[in-house]
Amino acid sequence: MWKTTTVIFVLAIGIALLLRTNPVNVPDLPETFWGPERNKEASKEVRSFTIAVSKSVIDDLNERLKNRRELVEPLEDAAWTYGMNTTYLKDVLEYWSTNYNWTERQALLNKYPQYMTNIQGLDIHFYRVKPNVSQTKLKILPLLILHGWPGSVVEFQKIIPLLTTPRPDKDFVFEVIAPSLPGYGFSQAAVRQGLGPPQMAVIFKNLMLRLGHDKFYTQGGDWGAAIITHLSTFFPNNVLGTHSNMCMGKVKSNTLWRFIGAFIPSLVVESEYANRMYPLGYHTGRLLEETGYMHIQASKPDTIGTAVAASPVALAAYILEKFSTWTNPEYRFRADGGLLEKFTLDELLDNIMLYWVTNSFTTSVRLYAEQFTKASMTNGIDELPVDVPVACAAFPHELAYEPKSLLGNKFTNLIQFNHLPRGGHFPAFEEPTLLADDIFNFVFTVENIRKKNNAKNTPNAEKKIKEPMKI
Ligand SMILES: *[C@@H]1O[C@H](CO)[C@@H](O)[C@H](O)[C@H]1NC(C)=O
Ligand SMILES: *[C@@H]1O[C@H](CO)[C@@H](O)[C@H](O)[C@H]1NC(C)=O
Ligand SMILES: *[C@@H]1O[C@H](CO)[C@@H](O)[C@H](O)[C@H]1NC(C)=O
Repeated sequence: MWKTTTVIFVLAIGIALLLRTNPVNVPDLPETFWGPERNKEASKEVRSFTIAVSKSVIDDLNERLKNRRELVEPLEDAAWTYGMNTTYLKDVLEYWSTNYNWTERQALLNKYPQYMTNIQGLDIHFYRVKPNVSQTKLKILPLLILHGWPGSVVEFQKIIPLLTTPRPDKDFVFEVIAPSLPGYGFSQAAVRQGLGPPQMAVIFKNLMLRLGHDKFYTQGGDWGAAIITHLSTFFPNNVLGTHSNMCMGKVKSNTLWRFIGAFIPSLVVESEYANRMYPLGYHTGRLLEETGYMHIQASKPDTIGTAVAASPVALAAYILEKFSTWTNPEYRFRADGGLLEKFTLDELLDNIMLYWVTNSFTTSVRLYAEQFTKASMTNGIDELPVDVPVACAAFPHELAYEPKSLLGNKFTNLIQFNHLPRGGHFPAFEEPTLLADDIFNFVFTVENIRKKNNAKNTPNAEKKIKEPMKI
């Protein structure tokens, strides 16, 4: 019964959305100054940056870890279904305060060259890793790679060398630019409202231009995926191609198609993947179960931010739960949350440290609030097509599944759509080789099409790059 009700409810919403006839006014994306007044005079130079957390910050952290309150015992046999298992958490906290060695971890995070530069009033932190190549035959392609929440540039430590190392069968290699999102890690946060994903796209376009790259590839998941989608929408002349591990075709008509597919799945999705979307009631229920965090972060970011950022215990519990369940939903039924299946505890703590030492948790969750303001929900940006070449990598444990047929309504030039054999929401962190291979294959295809078009001397070759998808 409740399933039918859900279905009717979703249908009603779908129709209501479709019948709204507001024209899509392409919003203006001004070069807003997001920083504090004192940054008005900031220079535009690109400064070298090294992570150097003072001893007092680490001593203070260890003090807090030592003086923590007793944790409330988990319910019998609950595993991680009530949230993080606090018995397990106790072991993590013990490890953090005794075995985790920040001096060593910091040195690892400083292994690749990092920089800072001021864009639109904000100091933006980024890795810029050039390939180690001697052969001049290789084409070096800039790749902007963006993380999401509750991640950071820590997610990219293993994939960076895979992208900057030449491959025998490819005549190109990447220069990787991996920034921290504004308000995350070492990137400064906005002091005024409105810095959502489309506005971040402007910042990162400006970052790439500042580095001398007026044409580049983009890659991302989670918020990173949203930002590169906007970047491709608004700056198609700068984006050579976009590879996403969380493609979202959020055009309104897709809401109706998803619903119709609940009755006739074959209209929407290949039978092999139908269980990733349907039954609709089951998947909607799962999404509700996993997205409570989103509602509070979108509506009261500073309240939840203050609570979580106040203690390393709270921060670890809140973030680690996501790295368990979003890696594989079945892990919530395991006593250990499957946390060490794909990650080491050191890696997971590195990511938490970037939130802790910069005290950036509150500013990181404000991104949800900026996404869900009335202004950004009604600006029509999601209705705009992406015409640059796109690859969608569908990892089996991603939170939601978008079938190829619906993605085509948003991404008019979907060149590659692969179902990867393993991995969840954090593929760069979990399955760096699978992700790097998928990126290389996509760029190989795009570069070949471009070469062919150039050879044919097609006018507007850059725009016309199009070829039927191979599935
Ligand atoms: C929590 O984790 C500990 C340590 O892994 C385990 O022994 C315990 O059974 C788990 N508790 C629950 C309720 O799953
Ligand atoms: C952490 O690692 C550094 C560098 O390897 C070492 O000098 C230091 O003694 C270690 N600290 C602890 C507490 O083990
Ligand atoms: C580049 O690679 C070569 C060969 O693998 C190595 O000898 C050299 O040290 C590397 N240089 C840098 C800067 O990593």
